[in-house]
Amino acid sequence: MPLWFLNLRVLCAFVVLLSPMTYRKKLIEVALPLEAINVESAREKSIRHGHPSTLHLWWSRKPLATTRAVLWASLVDDPSSWPEKFPTEEAQNRERQRLFDILGRIEIEKDKKGNTKQVVRGLVSWDEINQPNSAVLLEAQREIARCLAWERGEEPPTKPDAIRDYIAKYAPPAYDPFCGGGSIPLEAQRLGLQAHGSDLNPVAVLITKALIEIPPKFKDKPPVNPDSRQKQKISSWEGAQGLAADVRYYGQWMRDEAFKRIGYLYPMVETNHKGTKDTKVIAWLWARTVKCPNPACGCQMPLVNKFSLSTKKGKEAWVEPFVGDVNTEGDFNHKGTEDTKGDDFGVSVVPPKIRFEVKTGKGTAPDGTVNRKGAVCIACNTPVPFDHIRREGKAGRMDSQLMAIVAEGQGGRVYLSPDEEQEYIAKKAQPEWKPDSNLPEQALGFRVQGYGMTKHADLFTPRQLVALTTFSDLVSEAREKIKADAVAAGIPDDDLPLNDGGIGATAYADAVATYLAFGVSRIANTLCTIARWTASRDQTVTAFARQAIPMTWDYPDVNPFSGAAGDLKVSLSSICDVLEKLQFSQQGNVQQIDATAKSNDEIAPRIISTDPPYYDNIGYADLADFFYVWLRRSLNSVYSNIFSTLLVPKTPELVATPYRFGGDKKKAQSFFEEGLRKAFGRMNGMAHSDYPLTVYYAFKQAETEDSDDDKGNAVVSSTGWETMLEGLIKSDFSIGGTWPMRTELSNRSVGLGTNALASSIVLVCRPRPADAPKASRRQFLNELKRDLPQALKLLQQGNIAPVDLAQASIGPGMAIYSKYAAILESNGTSMGVRTALQLINQILDEFLTEQEGEFDSDTRWALTWFEQYQFNEALYGNAETLSKAKNTSIQGMVEAGILEAKAGKVRLLKREDLKTDWKPEKDERTPIWEITQHLIHTLDKNGETGAAELLAKLGNKADLAKELAYRLYSLCDRKGWTQEAIAYNSLVTSWPEITRLANEYKPSPEQLSFSL
Ligand SMILES: C[S@@+](CC[C@H](N)C(=O)[O-])C[C@H]1O[C@@H](n2cnc3c(N)ncnc32)[C@H](O)[C@@H]1O
Repeated sequence: MPLWFLNLRVLCAFVVLLSPMTYRKKLIEVALPLEAINVESAREKSIRHGHPSTLHLWWSRKPLATTRAVLWASLVDDPSSWPEKFPTEEAQNRERQRLFDILGRIEIEKDKKGNTKQVVRGLVSWDEINQPNSAVLLEAQREIARCLAWERGEEPPTKPDAIRDYIAKYAPPAYDPFCGGGSIPLEAQRLGLQAHGSDLNPVAVLITKALIEIPPKFKDKPPVNPDSRQKQKISSWEGAQGLAADVRYYGQWMRDEAFKRIGYLYPMVETNHKGTKDTKVIAWLWARTVKCPNPACGCQMPLVNKFSLSTKKGKEAWVEPFVGDVNTEGDFNHKGTEDTKGDDFGVSVVPPKIRFEVKTGKGTAPDGTVNRKGAVCIACNTPVPFDHIRREGKAGRMDSQLMAIVAEGQGGRVYLSPDEEQEYIAKKAQPEWKPDSNLPEQALGFRVQGYGMTKHADLFTPRQLVALTTFSDLVSEAREKIKADAVAAGIPDDDLPLNDGGIGATAYADAVATYLAFGVSRIANTLCTIARWTASRDQTVTAFARQAIPMTWDYPDVNPFSGAAGDLKVSLSSICDVLEKLQFSQQGNVQQIDATAKSNDEIAPRIISTDPPYYDNIGYADLADFFYVWLRRSLNSVYSNIFSTLLVPKTPELVATPYRFGGDKKKAQSFFEEGLRKAFGRMNGMAHSDYPLTVYYAFKQAETEDSDDDKGNAVVSSTGWETMLEGLIKSDFSIGGTWPMRTELSNRSVGLGTNALASSIVLVCRPRPADAPKASRRQFLNELKRDLPQALKLLQQGNIAPVDLAQASIGPGMAIYSKYAAILESNGTSMGVRTALQLINQILDEFLTEQEGEFDSDTRWALTWFEQYQFNEALYGNAETLSKAKNTSIQGMVEAGILEAKAGKVRLLKREDLKTDWKPEKDERTPIWEITQHLIHTLDKNGETGAAELLAKLGNKADLAKELAYRLYSLCDRKGWTQEAIAYNSLVTSWPEITRLANEYKPSPEQLSFSL
């Protein structure tokens, strides 16, 4: 039996033991194959093509692998819930393993070169998620139906259609009251449930509608456009393929029409030196300018972050600025000083002009003119503070100058110097309409208002405004065309709009128009002055690469007819790729609802899974206005209810931003906490009692605050995290699980402090019985001390990554805390979540320290030394004193190969200083410290195969290496030694694979004699 299976067994056994069964437990309340879910969730982050998230941007979407796993594991019973069917622990474990295999399992495959690699199979694998009619999905649905049937005392259905019908009939509807980009309802729908979603934000509502509500209404319907109708006889249209075909067709019509109307604003350029302007421009690159404050200069100084255009090897290009009209090579020396104007400079009253030329080949781009500290005038080298730029911006005197043109040449991108005609054409664009709404005075991550950009329209050039308005208005024109074509195609027109439940010609036109409007809204992300040009990738990066509106100095003005990013055709093609792959067997329903408002609706109990906002992480409403203004322009008459406000509703939004409370942090915090409680209260009222509530919390290490516990030990807690726990507990939920999901980790070597810790935690909750008892602090502590160490040991044996251990330990700890109505302190007050978390942390610390007792004396010495000096030198005397306390000797440890002692100084050997020809079979003193460091070093150099070979040679000598890695990880994490912490985390996360490979390893006869 593989080692990991044994570990899993104990982990599961523990969780069952900890929570007495009062209801039928679901799989998620007992165990999850975390590693497979995490690997696939992280992988999904890099998948673009056809991923539902490409329908339209939404911030901080949850990976579908995670939402799918959480929902399925909430629907399927844990085998321990059926003792009559799985009477022994062995039988339960076997059944649980079967369910794990359906959900996600890691398999080892050999590639063509014979190298082994890990692949994830099962429901969470992206290949299955994106696969229409996936066999694994059916297998998973079979299990949902089986659990429903057992509960009802019926025979489970076996045929595919019968399975789906059974789920449709008996499974509870799923609901996400903070649905955002729709990841949770989408997966609920794919699992076969009736999916409901709601959000306060109209953009989120529309995205989720487009994913789960609109496509099922027109399931399997052929397109109505004349082109497809002609081919209809030979085509069959499944799912939303017909809808997609119409989106492509009418999108092309819109693009052609737009080109007829505004194509003159996007002139071609000459690249062939034959006088023919026949090359399409990809983008015009502009620099913002302000007047130089030096009275002797006064030029319109360009504000440029970077002058480089392409840093691709062999294609290097950059902009060379010149001061003055004279075209003299080298008159600008890259340092912002000018040397051709001689004595005149400094006294001239005519402001010098700045001219740009594109250079290619060998050479380096000059430094930009703006950095974090301020700007510098390119003509006179005067340092210019941001204050001046802000003043000029606010006075409406910020201008722009064309720097370069990017065109699509024969062999790739070509860069051209600007010319007056191109600049003139761009500047003559006169928008007939623009989004005149105000940007918020202050908002999370918004940096542009201080520079006089106070309206949404200010985020666009006049040409971009013309283009976006033209495209937005064409949505309504296309809608009329679609309606007429639909009627011609035989679809009855009942004049009932989509939004009022229609499914006729009018509703169909509304549906296609929705996707067309998304196509336009998507390109606004590229067609704005917040987008950036990246020289390393030779392309435009959209404005919302981050959840912010930062100030940009130079920016691309992208051609929407270029065939590249920013072109409506490209944008709609991404949308259609999503539509074509959607799978649905049931209708979805999405509404705009404030999740904190009281609901009087009589609704069937629901299985609720949700991902509420994270304290003050993202200002969704402020950000979404950027898209809302364009979507409203296109779709106001289609969705008059959700577009009734000029901008996205702000006041009820759950976010703890002081800006909304006159700068009062406390008010913002209590608004958020109160709102979260109301939302959880509402959920408690509508949750189905047979299923757990699952709540996502995006854990961000940056949010943590250090504080001291009762004994003055530093502990880590997080305001957002506490609020989430408090909110749930005060809404009468008890928390039984806290599963860390490393959704952002793309591979194991990603550094901590970057995104390795930007994980989500899924909280698994059940309503707390109204008659739950109270307990004293002592009682709580005793229970924690009794049960938590056992839980931690089992989590370790279950191979939880060290980086996740602290979080996962909160689950069993909180289960004890939250099963009581209150924990009473000695003075009669109720213990808060913060104290409970501190106590849980404290026991985790004690547990890890106690494990030291199992290590040999050299290792215990090394641990204490390391904690104080890491790998640095320190005095021999200190080392000597410590060695006495730990019952070892410096000389012995030098001989063991873990220490260097010379010239009165001692230091622990770094991994790279360890003996390269170490033969453990010949080494008589092998402290676990040495073994662990060698294993990590080998893992680093030779991968899991190399480490496995070493592990095989070490045999059971290495048994405690994983425990030491946990201890060292926690120590380094506490000390902030990030790189070192990563090393220990990597050893543990690779441990199952290393041990597996070590078991397969065939030792040489010499090694065999060593292990005997
Ligand atoms: C973390 S996001 C959800 C993301 C979603 N799970 C996804 O994968 O795309 C939180 C959502 O809560 C919404 N929200 C904020 N305040 C709200 C309120 N009072 N009522 C309903 N939704 C609200 C935000 O608009 C945002 O879409």
